[in-house]
Order: sequence, then structure tokens, then C-alpha cells
Amino acid sequence: MTSELRKAAIAVRENAHAPYSKFKVGAAIRAGSGVIYVGCNVENVAYPEGTCAEAGAIAAMVAAGETELIQAYVVAGSDMPVSPCGGCRQKLAEFAAGDVPVTMATTRGVEQQATLADLLPGAFDTAHMKV
Ligand code: THU
Repeated sequence: MTSELRKAAIAVRENAHAPYSKFKVGAAIRAGSGVIYVGCNVENVAYPEGTCAEAGAIAAMVAAGETELIQAYVVAGSDMPVSPCGGCRQKLAEFAAGDVPVTMATTRGVEQQATLADLLPGAFDTAHMKV
């Protein structure tokens, strides 16, 4: 259910460490077991060392022993629904099939939904490594 994910993403967004961009993001993902894992962006004074909310949620899922992701929700306080960055699309694709729904949202309630394949068409995967 998307509402459960939304609630979790909005709550964890409060913990985002974003003193540089001031752009707080929350992510909630549902693993194959049904359990929800959450993450927020964690910026660093050495800017490239910062991590995205999606990366945090994925790390929490994997640390808990799960490797299948069946739903994702990302929220920020922007006017437009927040769109996962290219790197996060690839990170999601490591654990999610192309038909997995990704909801992009604002804290004010605007939601936009796409599949992971919509967001990352032609995703690089092991098939591309065959020689
Ligand atoms: N950010 C995320 O955490 N997830 C996204 O989907 C988009 C961008 C973060 C990274 C950085 O801390 C801040 O938002 C501004 O780019």
C-alpha cells in the first residue's frame, strides 16, 4: 500500500542531514517480505561523500538480509515530485524488476508514479556483460 510507504518516507525525511542543499529527502521501500525499509539523504561537508535517501533505504534492506525490492516511494518538500537521480535509479535496478512501481512525491501530497523501467530504460545488467 502506497499510504504506508508515504507515512514512513515522510517520517524519515525529518531525519535527513541536508545542511548544504537544505533539500531533505525521505525514501521508503518495500522488500519482498513486505517489510518497509527507510532512508534519508545524509550530506557531507566534502560534498561528493553525501548519500541519497534511496541509497540509505537500500542499504538498510540489504543489511537486514533482503535483496528483493517490490515498491519504492520518494518524497521531498519541493513543488515538483522528487525524481530519483541517475545513480539511484541504477541502485534500485540492482534489487528491483522493471515493473516495480516508484512513486515520486511532494510533502504537500502531489504524487507521480512510474515503473523503474520507465525511469531507467535499457538498464545495464549482467546480460550486457556477456562476451
Ligand atoms: N537527493 C536524494 O536523496 N534523492 C533524490 O532522489 C534526489 C536528490 C538528495 C541528494 C542531496 O542531498 C540533495 O537531495 C540535493 O541534491
